[in-house]
Amino acid sequence: MKKLIIANWKMNCDTIFLQDYAKKLKSNPCEKFDFFISTPSIYLQLAAKNFDKSIKICAQDCSEFENGAYTGQISPKNLKDVGVFSTLIGHSEARKYLNQKDENLNNKIKNAIKNNIFTIYCIGEDLSQIDKVEEVLSAQIDSIPNEANESNLAIAYEPIWAIGTGKVATIESIAKVCNIIKKICEKKSLKNIKILYGGSVNLENCYDILKIKEISGLLIGGMSLKIEEINQIL
Ligand code: PGA
Repeated sequence: MKKLIIANWKMNCDTIFLQDYAKKLKSNPCEKFDFFISTPSIYLQLAAKNFDKSIKICAQDCSEFENGAYTGQISPKNLKDVGVFSTLIGHSEARKYLNQKDENLNNKIKNAIKNNIFTIYCIGEDLSQIDKVEEVLSAQIDSIPNEANESNLAIAYEPIWAIGTGKVATIESIAKVCNIIKKICEKKSLKNIKILYGGSVNLENCYDILKIKEISGLLIGGMSLKIEEINQIL
């Protein structure tokens, strides 16, 4: 089975960047990996139009509500309507800056699943929680609703201290934490859930991380903005 690479552009793009990236992206980009591109919501349609159909378009968040008086929000139904395949949910930056809580995240995932939007659920500990990783991740995994399974959700393990910092978790610790995540998931009857790694992935570490048996792919922030480097991985 192909591993998955997700380019998380965060809030770092504009029309010219997107069009240039599409032009420079290697042909046959999903030959070795499945490849998702996650853009700010205003560019999702442009991405769907510009990129090869083999590439899946991914939002960075979605509303927990179906529809209604929620000014500023975007529902999974809206995402589906404009050709989006997937969404990130619970990214540490959304938890932090948008004040998203476990209960919101549980509702968001339920809503995404209901509307056939594949969830990339992000979890991870911060520096102060390193000694209680299992407890922290277990509480975050508790937000995954019962209707989730491997066909509608994958987990992205992103240690918060590694995001955008250049500090990468060691191969041993990534493998160890993935096994912890697997065990927690199995207790919740979540079998065969894919686990991705994210946090300062670069050209030097990506191949070793991809070799980890428990890892099904990478969620890449900073490096995903560099088309030449992405082309090297794909
Ligand atoms: P980074 O971001 O690769 O820049 O550390 C990863 C992420 O936040 O998804």
